[in-house]
Amino acid sequence: MIRIGVVGMGFMGQQHFSIYEGMDNVEVVAVCDKNPTKVAEAAPSVGGNIGEATELDLSAQARYVCLEDMLEKEELDCVDVCVPTYLHAEMTVAALEAGCHTISEKPMGRSLEDCDRMIAAAEAAGRMLFIAQCVRFWPEYELLADMISRGGLGRLASVKFTRQSPPATWAEDGWLLDPRLSGGAMLDLHIHDVDFILSVFGKPSAVLARASNLFSTGEKVDHIITSYLYDDFICVAEGGWAMPGAFPFEMGFQALGEQGLLDFSLANDPMLTFYPSDGEPYTPEVAAGTGYERELAYFVQCMENDQPPERVTPQSARESVQVIMAEQQSAETGEVVQLD
Ligand SMILES: NC(=O)c1ccc[n+]([C@@H]2O[C@H](COP(=O)([O-])OP(=O)(O)OC[C@H]3O[C@@H](n4cnc5c(N)ncnc54)[C@H](O)[C@@H]3O)[C@@H](O)[C@H]2O)c1
Repeated sequence: MIRIGVVGMGFMGQQHFSIYEGMDNVEVVAVCDKNPTKVAEAAPSVGGNIGEATELDLSAQARYVCLEDMLEKEELDCVDVCVPTYLHAEMTVAALEAGCHTISEKPMGRSLEDCDRMIAAAEAAGRMLFIAQCVRFWPEYELLADMISRGGLGRLASVKFTRQSPPATWAEDGWLLDPRLSGGAMLDLHIHDVDFILSVFGKPSAVLARASNLFSTGEKVDHIITSYLYDDFICVAEGGWAMPGAFPFEMGFQALGEQGLLDFSLANDPMLTFYPSDGEPYTPEVAAGTGYERELAYFVQCMENDQPPERVTPQSARESVQVIMAEQQSAETGEVVQLD
């Protein structure tokens, strides 16, 4: 039985908690949030952009308002860090130094320096660090990765990713909408597609980005479109959270190769369709569950097997943050930014 403590019981912490409750090889023994109402015996639900939200019964957990206390008083195998992005490094390092395997929500850190601190702490502690880049585990995206690696689309012509939402208003103290704390839609939302692109195609030679703001001030981070420069196919991703309030959260992709088009969108019905270049369209089968469920089940398995996670290494999650920084530089300068 893996004993877990969750810190940050907002939208994502609640999602993770509910998933662990459904797993029989995990026990959430403690939860922590600086806001006492979020660690009350009956914690009100925090809705987000995707996933079910319900009130939580936390009567079986030890409940804390300070991570230090939780680390001192509990015997934990793993800490799951679901606090705002600007606190990932601080809390991940504390959990690793306390001898716990650690999960940190994405993006890995607010800066590359944050990512480096986390990697160094994991190495020094000899504990596993897993960054919750859930899209690598999202069934439709897993299918796309698998089709590409098996050559199921044939020679690839273009891949296009979309992720768009109204402003993220649920966050505690509005931290998500402050780019100094969250990195804006660029680092918080768009990184999902960047991370997936890198995991499937490797690092592009360069990026060319255009971005704009509708409500943020300072660097352009509300809406972005980037071209990832690979030698032999087009790769583009669009992301943003400046959509009008009534616009439903959207994620999707279109991957076009000589064997056909794989088309996925939350707005489509059915959401996933393969259009062969020759023959009738059909909906391919995908694995059951969400990316959230699948990533946590994967890491719990890694801990049970004492096997560091290969599907998301800390270095690969850092690379996703690095590419976001290059996109930001490109958006600010208007220039193509080379990646080494
Ligand atoms: N994988 C995904 O699809 C996805 C979706 C949403 C958010 N996230 C990530 O999850 C993380 C949390 O985002 P969220 O949407 O849950 O935000 P949130 O504001 O809903 O939750 C954050 C929680 O952390 C708590 N907190 C803040 N400072 C604390 C401290 N010092 N000690 C203890 N608790 C503290 C807050 O009170 C709040 O309850 C972010 O890094 C975000 O990028 C990932």
